[in-house]
Amino acid sequence: MRTGPARLREARAQEAEAETISRLISTTLFRSNAADYPMTVLERVAEAHAPSHVLDYLARRDVLVAETEAGEIVGTVAAEAEWLKSFFVHPDWQGRGIGRALLEAALARMTARDIATAWLEASLTGVDFYQTAGFTPMREIIERADRRIVMKKDL
Ligand SMILES: CC(C)(COP(=O)(O)OP(=O)(O)OC[C@H]1O[C@@H](n2cnc3c(N)ncnc32)[C@H](O)[C@@H]1OP(=O)(O)O)[C@@H](O)C(=O)NCCC(=O)NCCS
Repeated sequence: MRTGPARLREARAQEAEAETISRLISTTLFRSNAADYPMTVLERVAEAHAPSHVLDYLARRDVLVAETEAGEIVGTVAAEAEWLKSFFVHPDWQGRGIGRALLEAALARMTARDIATAWLEASLTGVDFYQTAGFTPMREIIERADRRIVMKKDL
């Protein structure tokens, strides 16, 4: 398994951590997803990951972060029951195995909780990454300019 240059840990359900995770998600959205979605969609997703919303979901989701040796958070993924959500790796840190390591860790935690199938709604940006990782596309969701692909993987 490739672990990448970052170490993984559980996110802390704290205001400061929520702000850092929110900033990472916003930066990644506006840089990495901008080619696939109009600004209205990016703004709506960024708003859904405002610090107060991240703080709220830290209390009910299993949230992992990847951080550098210097302690900078550069990746995050969340699991809520059998659904993977809010998966982002900072654009400056993509392509180094951090996404793969976060995904494997999140799926291992699901397996430990006896979850048989993992599900997610992939962005158009992320769908090839998930396919490489063994997820199968099941159906498409189209909500005005927002398009996502529901994918699943048996664990
Ligand atoms: C999708 C994302 C999380 C992947 O993270 P990452 O750290 O760059 O991925 P990794 O470096 O671990 O790549 C793992 C594998 O997937 C492949 N991969 C990564 N991104 C890919 C892409 N966009 N298309 C095709 N393959 C991709 C890599 O080549 C690598 O394959 P390998 O192990 O055979 O070399 C990251 O690119 C990202 O944050 N994207 C923008 C936000 C987003 O759309 N997130 C998904 C929301 S559902």
